[in-house]
Amino acid sequence: MSNARFAMLALTGMVAASSAFALGSKPKADDEAVNARIQPVAQLSLASGGGAAAGNRTGEQMFQAACNACHGTGALGAPKVGNNGDWAPRLGKGLDGLLKNATNGIRSMPPKGGVADATEAELARAIVYMANKSGGSLKEPK
Ligand code: HEC
Repeated sequence: MSNARFAMLALTGMVAASSAFALGSKPKADDEAVNARIQPVAQLSLASGGGAAAGNRTGEQMFQAACNACHGTGALGAPKVGNNGDWAPRLGKGLDGLLKNATNGIRSMPPKGGVADATEAELARAIVYMANKSGGSLKEPK
């Protein structure tokens, strides 16, 4: 076999193999649907840096980077920041009660608001930030 002919065969083989691979690895509709569903959460955790290192984020930074997505608008039934009526029935739980539910998640509220690396202190600060703009007078823990 001449070298040129061998090269042609090898090339054809590679093209066939790579298109078979492309077909085989094409995402199924199911995968795409799952990706679409988890994408907002993935983006939230990426956005959660908020310019400050994990652990040192202020309540406002946490809110802007993550909580705002739902609590800014009331999406999914989240108590909206600035709407005292939304927050009044929740404020009675106190910071400890709110923090527990925000940490574990409650109904459509994802655990830690989707910020996987959020510390307890950061979550508490974010809650105090939101609550105190909505009729609360919670004290930020030291
Ligand atoms: C994907 C939307 C979403 C994001 C993001 C989100 N929340 Fe929520 N949150 C909700 C919803 C929905 C509720 C109402 C849950 C219920 O009581 O049914 C809620 C409720 C809460 C409550 C009240 C819990 C209670 O016991 O009544 C707190 C506190 C809270 N969120 C804190 C946070 C904090 C802090 C962040 C950001 C770090 C955050 N949330 C991000 C959707 C979200």
